[in-house]
Amino acid sequence: MGMEMDNKALRNTIIIDAKGSAGLLDEPDKSLDKAAKCLRNGGLVAFPTETVYGLGADGLNPEASKKIYAAKGRPSDNPLIVHIADMEALEKLAYTNEKAYTLAHAFWPGPLTIILPKRDVVPKETTGGLDTVAIRMPSHPAALELIRLSGVYVAAPSANISGRPSPTTAAHVIEDMSGRIDYIIDGGPVGIGIESTIVDLSGEVPAILRPGFITKRMLEDMIGEVVIDPAIADPKESVLKGLKPKAPGMKYTHYAPKGELTLVEKGSDNVTGGEPVIDKIRELAKEKMESGYKVGIMAPQETVSLYEGYADYVVCVGERKEQATIAAGLYSALRSFDDAGAEYIYAESFRGEGLSYAIMNRLLKAAGQRVIYV
Ligand code: TXA
Ligand code: MG
Repeated sequence: MGMEMDNKALRNTIIIDAKGSAGLLDEPDKSLDKAAKCLRNGGLVAFPTETVYGLGADGLNPEASKKIYAAKGRPSDNPLIVHIADMEALEKLAYTNEKAYTLAHAFWPGPLTIILPKRDVVPKETTGGLDTVAIRMPSHPAALELIRLSGVYVAAPSANISGRPSPTTAAHVIEDMSGRIDYIIDGGPVGIGIESTIVDLSGEVPAILRPGFITKRMLEDMIGEVVIDPAIADPKESVLKGLKPKAPGMKYTHYAPKGELTLVEKGSDNVTGGEPVIDKIRELAKEKMESGYKVGIMAPQETVSLYEGYADYVVCVGERKEQATIAAGLYSALRSFDDAGAEYIYAESFRGEGLSYAIMNRLLKAAGQRVIYV
């Protein structure tokens, strides 16, 4: 299975402003009607969710699903998440179990994707050939409204060109998808900024295949023991042991800016900021600048000003003491290095529990696991 790009003539992408639709769920938003109809007819519609923007198509229509892969340049063995707007849909798409309902009732609508054995109605084109299906009920009002109006189950990966950082604003989607899809619904910047937690409930022990806003602890409070897929828990170790991530998407280079990103952290005590880190980043950046390269630095609010003058382009990603702001700013910051033409990028890292675990999972992938310890 290879990559396919859409060679058809560029189409006219219509942008719908739905920034006002948030919160008006009992008053159907007319502006979404056309996009919903387009989904029903097998078209492609990008829409906001609370995590990142999604690129939607009718998930039960194999031809529609295939268009997603073409528009993104996504490998066809990388399955899609099916987005639903009501609980009944879960039973129609998958063979459920008690834990699935416990988690669905606890965290839906919200940033959790549940994997279960699929029913026959879900085509293999949507599941990348797998016998399981990933299902999520997003909480963004425009997403729920669009799914309801369309009357279909909406298969949707993140709305970026394959390999690029996931889009957290409509401008990011326009950058990647304009001319390739039918509609883009602009709901403003997303709230969370990194993709949903994926939990696999198709095996004996529930397993996290991708960390996210819903943490291991939060899942365990509801259903008891949950493991983290060993291939993502320690990426370096897993390469050595030849472990393959259970979520096919986690094996691809991803979230990556065009420049080479390197993380710098304190090795010994797991503390991530601090003076040795700052000195090292300044030194590395200066070295590359002197060799004539365009250099970028990414740092949190607390230290960002200390890098001014040490790189061509210095970006604040959020506040270290407010992890959620780092998640929300991460992909935008990574994309901005492309706009600035950065060839080498240095960043402080954000080790820790909970949301920082999910942030580091994305950041390490973006850095191709390149970390310098000081
Ligand atoms: O927050 C999100 O989940 C966003 C929004 C749009 O909902 N969507 C998203 O989709 O991140 P995508 O396609 O970028 O990531 C889906 C991930 C991939 O790593 C894929 O391999 C995995 O989910 N996945 C999907 N179905 C699976 C299955 N049946 N078994 C294992 N992994 C699966
Ligand atoms: Mg993605």
